[in-house]
Amino acid sequence: MSTQRRDTIAGGFSDTSSDYEGAVRYNLEGAQRLALSIPPGAYDDVLDVGCGSGWATQAVIDRFHPARVTGVDPSEGMLEQFQAKLGGIAGIDITLVQAGVEDMPVPPESFDLVVCSMAYHWFQQRWEAAAAMARAMKPGGVIAILCSGKGGEQAYRDVIADVEPINYQWLGAFDGNLRDIGEMEGYLVHAGLQPLDIWMERRTRNVPVEEYMERMRVVAGHIIGDPSDPEVAGWLQRVEQKMRERSGPRGWRYDFNKLYAIARKPG
Ligand SMILES: C[S@@+](CC[C@H](N)C(=O)[O-])C[C@H]1O[C@@H](n2cnc3c(N)ncnc32)[C@H](O)[C@@H]1O
Repeated sequence: MSTQRRDTIAGGFSDTSSDYEGAVRYNLEGAQRLALSIPPGAYDDVLDVGCGSGWATQAVIDRFHPARVTGVDPSEGMLEQFQAKLGGIAGIDITLVQAGVEDMPVPPESFDLVVCSMAYHWFQQRWEAAAAMARAMKPGGVIAILCSGKGGEQAYRDVIADVEPINYQWLGAFDGNLRDIGEMEGYLVHAGLQPLDIWMERRTRNVPVEEYMERMRVVAGHIIGDPSDPEVAGWLQRVEQKMRERSGPRGWRYDFNKLYAIARKPG
């Protein structure tokens, strides 16, 4: 059982960790596409940063059958999910480390492959995150990143901007989280890596309002706050109401951009 504080990113994810896989199924397919985009090769030592419940690790295991995987995540609850699901896989040595990317205690130049799926947009020190992951890679190693891309979620942002009192933390999160291709290229090059391919995928989805609200509860609990607090509950009700007003016959329509990046460490 997690004891982390809800108002930290890791605490938010710990609070909702048991609901993560049900609410964010799209991240599973994203992790699979990310793994398919990695150049063919032998990857015995794999590092999964922001590993969460282990979807990227699972996809890498399915494709490359590594000997050893290290999963890093500051969220105790997410690591518990990972351990319960993948901890007992035969033939693979799995090590879990509770830490943030910025100060992860992993040995330098030790990994053939670093994966980071749907976590980079939550990192608060993006340049240092890329540098830390680059340090962990063996010369010639590969890094594969998937994160939220700029330009998505505009319809939801418009709702948030229209519900009072304005939740400035939520509004700011859109600028803080969503990354563009050029920015990602900058992080990688600055970390001494050679980008092989960086691209954006734009999806349009129609979902029931309550499904979208559930996804936000699960991935952004630290921003939204405690829904048992009457003020937070009232604000969420007004958000939901506005979304229903703006929904069509097929539900809430929104765009989501996914940014993919593959790079190699020279050597
Ligand atoms: C949306 S989940 C993604 C989990 C998993 N990689 C996947 O593909 O489903 C984001 C994860 O990033 C983790 N995270 C947040 N801040 C982090 C940081 N500074 N360093 C490493 N991981 C972090 C969270 O705890 C959470 O488990």
